[in-house]
Amino acid sequence: QDLSAFNTLGLPSRAGHLLRLDNTVVLPQLAEAVAAYPRTMVLGGGSNVVLAGALPGLTIKVETRGIRLLEQTDQERVVEASAGEVWHDFVAYCLKQGWPGLENLALIPGTVGAAPVQNIGAYGVELDQRFHSLLAWDMQAGKAVEFGAADCQFAYRDSLFKREEPGRWLIVAVRFRLPVNWTPVLTYPDLHKHESLQHTGVTPQQVFDAVSAIRRSKLPDPAVLGNAGSFFKNPLVTAAQFQLLKAGHANLVAYAQPDGSFKLAAGWLIDQAGWKGRRLGAVGVHDRQALVLVNHGGATAEDVLELAEQIKTSVYQRFGVLLEQEPVVFR
Ligand code: EPU
Repeated sequence: QDLSAFNTLGLPSRAGHLLRLDNTVVLPQLAEAVAAYPRTMVLGGGSNVVLAGALPGLTIKVETRGIRLLEQTDQERVVEASAGEVWHDFVAYCLKQGWPGLENLALIPGTVGAAPVQNIGAYGVELDQRFHSLLAWDMQAGKAVEFGAADCQFAYRDSLFKREEPGRWLIVAVRFRLPVNWTPVLTYPDLHKHESLQHTGVTPQQVFDAVSAIRRSKLPDPAVLGNAGSFFKNPLVTAAQFQLLKAGHANLVAYAQPDGSFKLAAGWLIDQAGWKGRRLGAVGVHDRQALVLVNHGGATAEDVLELAEQIKTSVYQRFGVLLEQEPVVFR
C-alpha cells in the first residue's frame, strides 16, 4: 500500500501491510497482526518521518477520534483527545469551547498521538508544560499502560517514545492540563513584537491568529510543498562554545537556557552556510526558513537524507557544530 499521501514530505513509500486503526476495541487483537510481520511502525500524520521506498513490516495508521473534558477545577481543566485527532483541529476545538492554553501550538502539522512523541513545541510553549498523562498500548505485552509526565521523559524535541524502538508503544489518548486562569505566553520574540499583540487584554484567539499568521508567513504548507517542518533540532552548546562562536559571528542567534547552556538557531547556521533556497535535484532548502527541507516533486528518502548530510557537513565545517536530525527515518 502506498503511503505517499500519508507522509507530509510526500515521499513514495510502500507498506508491507497498512492497518488503519479507527477504534481501540481491536487493540487486544493486534498481537496476531504484529507477530505476522518483521516490524511494526505506528504512523500519525506522517509529518515527522522520512519513509524509505519499501517498508517491509506492518504500518498502523492511527485514526481514532474523540475529545472530552475529563474534569474541571478552579485551577485547571483536564481535556482528553484520542490519538488520531488532527492536532491543529484539536487546538482550534479547545479554543472554541473556551479551553485556552494550546494556542501557541496552533498549526503544527500531525496528530494528537504523535505530539508527545517528540514533545512538540513552538512560540514559547512545549507540550510537556500542558501535559497531564497519556494512555498507550504496549504492543509487546499486549496491554494498556498509563504514563504520567515523568514517565514520558520529555526533553526538547524528545521523549521516551521517540527513543524507544518505533513499534513498541501505540499512543491511544493524550490528556492535557489547561489553565482556567489563562494568561498569554508572549515570550517568543516573533510573538511579543507581533503588531496584533501590542495591547493589553490579549485574547487566546488573538494569540492563535498571530501564531498562525507567523507560521504561514515562513513555513511551507505541506499540502502545497512537501516538508517535515524543522529538519534539524536547534543544537545545545555550552556557554564556553557559545562565547567562542559569538566572538567569531557577532550576529549569531542563540537562546540562553536555564541550565546555563545556549540553544543555537539551526536555521541561522544553515542560512549563514549559504543553503537557504538552494536546490539539490528534487529536494531543497526552503527559501523562507532554512531549517525546513522541501520536496520540489519526485524526491525519495535518499535525496532528502543526502541533502541533510551535505548540510550537516557544511555547518560543521563552518561552525564546528553538529546538527542532529529531527524526523525519524523508517527504512
Ligand atoms: N533564522 C535565520 N534564517 C533562517 C531561519 C531562521 O536567520 O532561515 C534565524 C532568525 O534570526 C530567526 C531565528 O533563527 O529569528 C529563529 O527562527 P524561528 O523563529 O523560525 O525558529 P527556529 O528556531 O528556526 C523553532 C522550532 C520550530 C518552531 C519555532 C518557533 C526547532 C527545531 N524548530 O524553529 O518548529 O515553530 O522555533 O517556536 O526547535 C518544527 O519543529 O517543525 C518547527 C517548525
